[in-house]
Amino acid sequence: MTPSLLHQILDYANRANPYPIYEELRKTPVHQEADGPYVVSTYYEIRSLLHDPRISSDARNLASTTHDPLAESAQEEESALPPGFLRLDPPEHDRLRRMTNRPFGPPHSPRRVDGMRQELHDIVSGLIDGIGDTGRIDLVDQFSYPFPVTVICRLLGVPREDEARFHTWADTIAASLDPDPDADPTERGKISHDARMQLGMYLAGLIEERRKNPKDDMLSELATAKGQDGPMTTMELLSTAALLLIAGHETTVNLITNGMLTLLRNPDILQRLRTDPRLAVPIVEELLRFEPPVQLVPQRTTVADIEIHGTTIPKGASLWLVLAAGNRDPQRFENPDRFDPDRQDIQHLGLGSGIHSCFGAPLARLEAQLALSELARRLENPRLLEDPPSYRQNAVLRGPRHLPIACDGIRP
Ligand code: HEM
Repeated sequence: MTPSLLHQILDYANRANPYPIYEELRKTPVHQEADGPYVVSTYYEIRSLLHDPRISSDARNLASTTHDPLAESAQEEESALPPGFLRLDPPEHDRLRRMTNRPFGPPHSPRRVDGMRQELHDIVSGLIDGIGDTGRIDLVDQFSYPFPVTVICRLLGVPREDEARFHTWADTIAASLDPDPDADPTERGKISHDARMQLGMYLAGLIEERRKNPKDDMLSELATAKGQDGPMTTMELLSTAALLLIAGHETTVNLITNGMLTLLRNPDILQRLRTDPRLAVPIVEELLRFEPPVQLVPQRTTVADIEIHGTTIPKGASLWLVLAAGNRDPQRFENPDRFDPDRQDIQHLGLGSGIHSCFGAPLARLEAQLALSELARRLENPRLLEDPPSYRQNAVLRGPRHLPIACDGIRP
């Protein structure tokens, strides 16, 4: 018997190139797995559901009869630290997102992200200098992986000496988001529960300290905020800080790695970026369409029957929205399988859409633009040593585990 399309997506053998399965999936835009989630794969249907108030992100709305491997382990994890606003609906979602945005973006903090530009540049330069003249690099271990965690730690205000511990927790929690059908959901939930517990305890100490001695960082501002929404409770603060750490970690690692892989497969575009760093802006947008680090959004639930594309999705059903399939929908994009940063219309789903669209988008974009333009400028004659490279197990946060590259040296 042919395995279901969802099983094929989750099957590690298809990790390097899931796009032919997505093409097959789009033939049935709303596809139900036996007793399992409804899988939606076409651009307009995904967008419409992401904007539909009858869709909930709160796992408590899932009917108990629905089988969803991720929802099962989520219950175990959330006993350690309550869900961040990604897993909440309005009005709680809106209140927490608004409060988190005060120290992060306009209108209250228009300079926070742009003000980090020089610091980000210095981190990127330091990592590239550290590669040395070995002639062979693993881009993931030596660059894409350390960069985003360092950035999120600086943003939140985590002391440098503690950054290494953050790496370990972020890794463990990100791995638990993998709906691997062969993994035991209870075991997965337990491992993530322990990491969330340790992270929570660490953050609680740091918040206490910042309440007494506030500094110029997001955690201090969140811990001492007295805006119209009042202060966050300690529990809300903990889950928000954990959400920022997790949401901004493996996603950004994968965007940079997928980016370099795609550029090395398209040397003419890499060459253009080397001479014109401004091209990094459309390159990053096209990458978010072409190789999105978040391939699908699982764990959405219907709170009413919803009719879409001739199918009625019943109340309480689990929904998986395959952003990466929507991004290559030929009904929406011309020549969707072509990587083309010159296309005029790149309104991708790579950062989501609707009320849960990526909170960290301005930072994620800046990190990727700086990373790719500096790598293009400084690596002398870079070449892929493995194509395709080896991928991480995770089908949701998809990206190479290693990216071995040869180069003839590092330019100053
Ligand atoms: C390339 C890097 C990134 C990608 C591809 C990405 C992608 C996404 C996507 C697709 C969503 C929507 C999820 C959903 O609808 O369920 C999302 C939400 C979110 N992202 Fe990102 N993200 C990235 C980086 C970041 C960074 C750096 C941060 C933190 C500074 C961040 C924080 C968040 C948060 C807090 C949410 C939840 C928003 C809400 O529920 O209102 N992300 N991200």
